[in-house]
Amino acid sequence: MALILGIESSCDETAASVVRDGREVLSNTVASQIAKHSPYGGVIPELAAREHLTAIETVVDTALRDAGVQVKDLDAVGVTHAPGLVPALLIGIHFAKGLTEANHLPLIGINHFLAHIYGSFVDSSEYRFDDPSLYPMMALVVSGGHTCIVIITLDGKAHLAGTTLDDAAGEAFDKAAKMLNLGYPGGPVIERLAKQGDPKRFHFPRSLTGTAGKAVAPENRFNFSFSGLKTALLYHTAKLAGSGELSGQDLYDTLASYQEAIVDVLCTKAFDAAKFYGVKSCVVCGGVACNGALRARFEQTAPRNVIAFMAPKKYCTDNAAMVGGLTYHYFKKGFRSPLNLDAKARLPLNTELPFDFSALQSGCRVDL
Ligand code: KG4
Ligand code: ZN
Repeated sequence: MALILGIESSCDETAASVVRDGREVLSNTVASQIAKHSPYGGVIPELAAREHLTAIETVVDTALRDAGVQVKDLDAVGVTHAPGLVPALLIGIHFAKGLTEANHLPLIGINHFLAHIYGSFVDSSEYRFDDPSLYPMMALVVSGGHTCIVIITLDGKAHLAGTTLDDAAGEAFDKAAKMLNLGYPGGPVIERLAKQGDPKRFHFPRSLTGTAGKAVAPENRFNFSFSGLKTALLYHTAKLAGSGELSGQDLYDTLASYQEAIVDVLCTKAFDAAKFYGVKSCVVCGGVACNGALRARFEQTAPRNVIAFMAPKKYCTDNAAMVGGLTYHYFKKGFRSPLNLDAKARLPLNTELPFDFSALQSGCRVDL
């Protein structure tokens, strides 16, 4: 049995969680900075760092208290160290270093992408992260900072099969909301208003899918691009509302059609990759995976021969339960981070997960 404290500070949420044995979430504390960043329509890194600095001690104390445990009961501390906003990451990392050094606890640095993927397993009574029958796996990681297709092979390696060439899917929601004066973050408000709209009324472009009559370069088959969609929204708004603002049914139909374009591209590409790599399971995770239209499409269009499941909504947006849960598996394998653990804005995604089932037959069609 192992009790792990997870700490997350990669973006605008200061979070801490105590997780037992990688699955049982004893506490899940999240302090959101949304109100602070809202006037800017996006996250300001230095502001985020200052907010983490003032919040982190209380957040960790709350997580320990909610779980009914003390620092002396912990077996290890896991902290997000990449990728993310470096000034923000540094706060969580420094706090974790101080805590582990003072209490002679192991420190384990965690990849934020992989933690998001683990969000599909933490708390799940059905699926186990270390179940070899789920691999190779395709994970669609969609958040405010990232949009990527990750293939995890039986040997425990995570490979980046595709990523966005410009904006992330969450940014496409956030920037659209900013453009239409709907507030920040854009995803939840767009989803709410889009429910009253017709997703088929307007057609927005589906970049890098070949639907515009232009062949997609092979290297971009699993890549995404959302900046053209944002420009299309700008022209669409000017055409429909002139110098005024979109409102009423025009606004709802616009948002529903815009959301539809994002969901369509995400699912089409993710499942194309799933088929191409011959995976056994598919997951979707990250903040955008809270979106009901995406969740419905993911379920409806997943290939019949794969196991498709998604992170529960509360573990989609940034949280530390996914960090604490994943840390347990590294801890169990004896993995420890050095005290000079660094923060990194980006991480080449060829990352090791704490399992290796390579002795089993690989179902992956392609050597990644
Ligand atoms: O995973 P996350 O909390 O932070 C990052 O790691 O970026 O994701 C935040 C992103 C924001 O862009 C937000 O607009 C988007 O997730 N988001 C949504 C929804 N809820 C949050 N996007 C679409 N629909 C939602 N319901
Ligand atoms: Zn995230």
